[in-house]
Amino acid sequence: MDRSADHVAGARQEHWDTVYTDRGERRVSWYQADPRLSVELIEEAAAAGEGRDGAVIDVGGGASLLASRLVDEGFRDVTVLDVSEVALETARRAAARRPGRERISWVHADLLSWRPQRRYAIWHDRAVFHFLTERADRDAYLDALRAALAPRGAVVLAAFAPEGPDRCSGLPVARYDAGGLAAELSGAFGDAVTLTARRSERHVTPAGAVQPFTWITARLG
Ligand SMILES: C[S@@+](CC[C@H](N)C(=O)[O-])C[C@H]1O[C@@H](n2cnc3c(N)ncnc32)[C@H](O)[C@@H]1O
Repeated sequence: MDRSADHVAGARQEHWDTVYTDRGERRVSWYQADPRLSVELIEEAAAAGEGRDGAVIDVGGGASLLASRLVDEGFRDVTVLDVSEVALETARRAAARRPGRERISWVHADLLSWRPQRRYAIWHDRAVFHFLTERADRDAYLDALRAALAPRGAVVLAAFAPEGPDRCSGLPVARYDAGGLAAELSGAFGDAVTLTARRSERHVTPAGAVQPFTWITARLG
């Protein structure tokens, strides 16, 4: 990482650490007591691939309960990556009380400069890609995805829908329909990627606001 990239990554960590510290993990707008749709789509993708033995990574997983839920469901190899140490520590503490916690790995990294050391059967991202409003940042994300995804791997991707909010946590976001998300993946993988599921979801924030999300699953090969 060069100096300026280092500086950007540091600012990004500081931003997200402050958000989690100031609001607390249960009051952030994206909080979910039960990440049901993530589990459903990951289970679907696993059933069509390597099953619960396949490695799953939740990028920008933050303080989400998803990793704990996946090990509860029998997934044997789950990784959570996030730029916020505060969020990861919160998630790690929550997981520490549960059986199966040794099946979760924690990676503190900025996705945009991360170089994966291994491959994953399933890549899950809820509400991270949509923060990348610059083409260069989306390309850096897609580089990491290409390096991390196993052959015949699946991507489960959720972003604000076209009628969703245009900002989150003080940052601008890009909004997508399923075609827009699929086009980003096709840009990275070409014909090698196939859309296998799409969903629309109305997420209700802890403050009671409705946030429309677009979800897709896409598979390589
Ligand atoms: C809106 S939150 C969503 C958290 C989680 N996916 C969920 O659904 O609860 C966005 C998350 O992405 C993380 N994040 C943002 N930019 C990142 C980056 N470049 N690399 C790694 N994590 C990032 C933030 O720290 C935060 O936890």
